[in-house]
Order: sequence, then structure tokens, then C-alpha cells
Amino acid sequence: MKKLLAMLLALAMILSLAACGGSGSSAKTEPTEAPVEAEPEAEPTEAPVEAEPEAEPEAEPEAEAAGYTTVEEGKLIMSTNAAFPPYEMVADGEGAYNGFEGIDVEIAVALADKLGLELVIDDMDFDSALVAVQNGKSDMVLAGLTYNEERDKVMDFSTSYATGQQVVIVPDGSDIETMDDLANDKMIGVQRGTTGEMYAADTPENGGYGEDHVLAYDNGALAVQAMLNGQVDAVIIDNGPAQEYVKANAGLHLLDGDWVLENYCLAVDEGNTQLLEALNSALEEMIADGTVQSIIDKYIAAE
Ligand code: ARG
Repeated sequence: MKKLLAMLLALAMILSLAACGGSGSSAKTEPTEAPVEAEPEAEPTEAPVEAEPEAEPEAEPEAEAAGYTTVEEGKLIMSTNAAFPPYEMVADGEGAYNGFEGIDVEIAVALADKLGLELVIDDMDFDSALVAVQNGKSDMVLAGLTYNEERDKVMDFSTSYATGQQVVIVPDGSDIETMDDLANDKMIGVQRGTTGEMYAADTPENGGYGEDHVLAYDNGALAVQAMLNGQVDAVIIDNGPAQEYVKANAGLHLLDGDWVLENYCLAVDEGNTQLLEALNSALEEMIADGTVQSIIDKYIAAE
């Protein structure tokens, strides 16, 4: 059982690492980077300067000129679930953006800025945030969203900007000491619609614990609350929020042992290639120049 689980996890890891950054085609397992054809040195010193249009045609909005449109002209609507610290949470302090803060929020502010769009954050349940982008209610979902193949069928994913890992939180003194102990008829709390729910509710043959052993909550904090109330024995959730919950509540700890490593990406609706390309080049610039890392470091103390 343990061996099978480890094998499945390794496989899941390979699958999840292989992609995230596909651009809408069905060949999602292709590597993101196209083979580099020429050395950078080979480039002509004087890059052909594109004739700069002196006067922009006034009627054409910036986004349209760049080849993409957004749900609302001039705006970049992000659907998210702002109950996922330190990636997105409700906040009204200094540095908050319209009542929200976190890693994804700061990345989104910078992306919108680069694209010359006004960022609008639409906070809802996590599963609804995924649906919103597919229904043309938002331009992108940015929500500590893990790439996986199933989601890739209905959305297009950006380059990955961070990684996460599923972990198990248990109360101190629990008789659950390893992940295998979860199989002893335990109840597991998760956030609805997340990869944590998918893994936990999967069949034991597939390394899960079966859906009868899983209770799904609207967000991670509610799942943790349910555990503190004794309604579930453990919570499976991403390590980022898990660390925050353990810090904020006495009497909880994480189990040793690693579960699946995941890639966080933003996603647009399937086929919204031009918007994805615009977002991706802005995001890739921010990864290359260290902006993304400094945002992550601000929220997650570098060990
Ligand atoms: N990484 C997990 C997933 O993609 C959980 C994300 C939950 N995000 C949130 N903002 N609540 O399924």
C-alpha cells in the first residue's frame, strides 16, 4: 500500500511537472521551452527597430491593439478564493489592494500594471473561481491553482510561478503518526474542489482514502475549525496555508513525509490564447527579473 502510494505520487509529480505552461494546444506534455535555435550572441547587435507609430490610432484600446480582449474593456478580472494564506486573503491594512493581499494579489497587481489594465479581484468559493473563468465571468483565475491534466482540458495554464505541496495537519496527541494511519477509518477534512480533495477522496487502489472518509469545506480555515471541533481527524491542504493554520492555532502539527509536489499557475479559459500570451510574457519577465521571488519571500520567510 505504501509502495503503491509512493509510486502514484511519483507519477503524479512527473505529470504535474511536465506541463503547466502549455499554450492551449492538446499536446500539453510538451516542454514549455522551445528548443533554443541560436545562441543569443548570434543576434544582430542592432535589433531591427520596429517603426514606432508616432501617433497611436486613438480609437483602438491598448488591449485590442495587443491582440487580446478582456471581459470588461480596460480591466483584468481575477477570480479567486481569498481564504488561502499567504497567497490570497482578505485584508484591509496598508499595502492591501481593494481589501485583499497575498502573493497572488501582488503578482496580479504587477501583471495588470504591465498590461495597462485595472485589476479587479472577484472573491468567491474556489470551485466557483475555476468555473468563472470558463464562463467568461473573469479573465483569469489566480488562486494558488495547481496545474493538473484534468483542469488542463478546460483551461489554459501559464508558466508556473510557484510550487506547493499537499500536507497533512493533525491535532497534537493524535494517533495518526504517518500518512498510512489515515487509512485506519479516519475522517479527513479538505477544501472543496482542490487537489487535496481529489487525492484524499480517490480510491485506496489509487493511493487515496475513499470519498466516504472525506468531508469537504468551503475553505481551509473551516476544515481546520472542524478538526479543532473533533469533526474530522486530519486536514489535507497545501503547505502554504497549512503553515499559517498551524502557526495561528495551538495544538496542531504537520505530519512528516512529503506528498505530491505541485505547480501553481494562473489559468485563462481554454483557447484564450492571446490573453494567455500577454499574461505569460508579463509573468515570465517578472520571474526572470526576480519580482516573483521577492513577492514570495515577503510572505514566506526564506528558510
Ligand atoms: N492548490 C490547490 C488546488 O489547486 C488548492 C488551491 C486553493 N486555492 C484557494 N485560493 N483557495 O486545488
